[in-house]
Amino acid sequence: MSNKATIELDGKKYEFPVVVGTENEVAIEIKSLRADTGGLITLDPGYKNTGSCKSAITFLNGEEGILRYRGYSIEELADKASFLEVAYLLIFGELPTQEQLDKLYKDIKKESHVDEEMKKILDGFPKSAHPMGVLSSLTSALIAFNPSAVNVESDEEMYNAIIKLLAKFPVLVAWTLRKKNGQPLDYGDSSLDYVDNILKMMFKSPHEEHYDIDPVVSSALNKLLILHADHEQNCSTSTVRIVGSSHAGLFASISAGISALWGPLHGGANQAVIEMLENIKEDGGDTKKYMGKAKDKEDPFRLMGFGHRVYKNFDPRAKIIKKSADQVLDQLGVEDPVLDIAKGLEKEALEDSYFVDRKLYPNVDFYSGIIYRALGIPTEMFTVMFALGRLPGWIAQWREMRLEKEPIGRPRQVYTGENLRDFKDISKR
Ligand code: CMC
Repeated sequence: MSNKATIELDGKKYEFPVVVGTENEVAIEIKSLRADTGGLITLDPGYKNTGSCKSAITFLNGEEGILRYRGYSIEELADKASFLEVAYLLIFGELPTQEQLDKLYKDIKKESHVDEEMKKILDGFPKSAHPMGVLSSLTSALIAFNPSAVNVESDEEMYNAIIKLLAKFPVLVAWTLRKKNGQPLDYGDSSLDYVDNILKMMFKSPHEEHYDIDPVVSSALNKLLILHADHEQNCSTSTVRIVGSSHAGLFASISAGISALWGPLHGGANQAVIEMLENIKEDGGDTKKYMGKAKDKEDPFRLMGFGHRVYKNFDPRAKIIKKSADQVLDQLGVEDPVLDIAKGLEKEALEDSYFVDRKLYPNVDFYSGIIYRALGIPTEMFTVMFALGRLPGWIAQWREMRLEKEPIGRPRQVYTGENLRDFKDISKR
């Protein structure tokens, strides 16, 4: 393949280098486009064809349904790794040795205290507040109590900021749930591993002396968190990188990422899927009716949990989650009628030309809510669980962006508004 691409405009030719990634992804690098052409820019709403960075963290091939973190397949990681190992892998680039993992967790435990004043902030929220709004606010509020984590210059400062967040974020997640349930706010138990500690912080009832970790629940949560841990330059991750590119700091960048994740077209889809399945059930379980609505261009209804910006083949995460949903419900002895509705919708969609032609398959969120529900997690908390899983990915992407000294993110636009006009006095408008 040629290592140069040519753009021709008004008889003039401009050459740009072609960049090839390690998986042979090819890009035309247009960094000098404006300078070379006297002001030309590209226009790509939704960045469907725009690479915003080079990244060595996650490889995704949407046509073939491949997802890898740092070269390891998602299937193998979900099967064999712990969430904390995956966090280390994503952030620092290699799977940790036992010694490295022990040190990471020891450092995290030392930082797992959240300032007591933060409880007052949480108290200020009404019980009805959506947990994603609460989590984003609390993450932002962490800055006030940990100012040293804002301007990270050295490797050590960066490491410390990352550790603080890996330590305090699960506490905030647990507090958000406990607030919703009207339960007292608790801290962790340093004798437990990272994920089991999260479970205990979330679910230990004030009336229980002990909280016994159910290995089925623990393993299911571990898997779900790994599957959500990174997904290259999606909406929330791009938000984290772009906010971080102004050097606003890690916590502010993650808080912005949480807000971006909240929307139903992104992480909020897991909540929207369960609500949709519940509606279909209450409406008599007629999946065909809802398939019809999803295909009707006059109807705003979309089949939530279906379709993906980059996967034009099966979402590999959805395959793992579907299998896991069956196992977890079976092992926990939970019968959930919406699982049958979900399977029915999937079967119909896979045989329907509307979905087949548009390459719309179930995504990661189609079955994840069914597992979260079986684990006892309330629907409004589903996207918070997604955020908990995505945290290491956001951190890894933020760290890469800072280490690569990426410039501030600042897209251009094509202006389509009014040309210069005279100001009219209010009496003459
Ligand atoms: N139901 C019905 N039609 C759909 C759906 C759907 N879920 N998704 C896409 N389409 C149609 C869409 O109407 C369009 O049709 P046409 O070409 O006739 O106009 C075509 O498929 C392409 O859709 P698009 O909106 O241009 O695709 P996009 O890449 O901009 O959007 C998406 C991707 C994920 C936002 C979209 O598929 C969607 O809204 N899905 C439902 C929400 C959802 O499940 N989001 C979670 C994504 S996975 C979790 C994550 O990582 O964020």
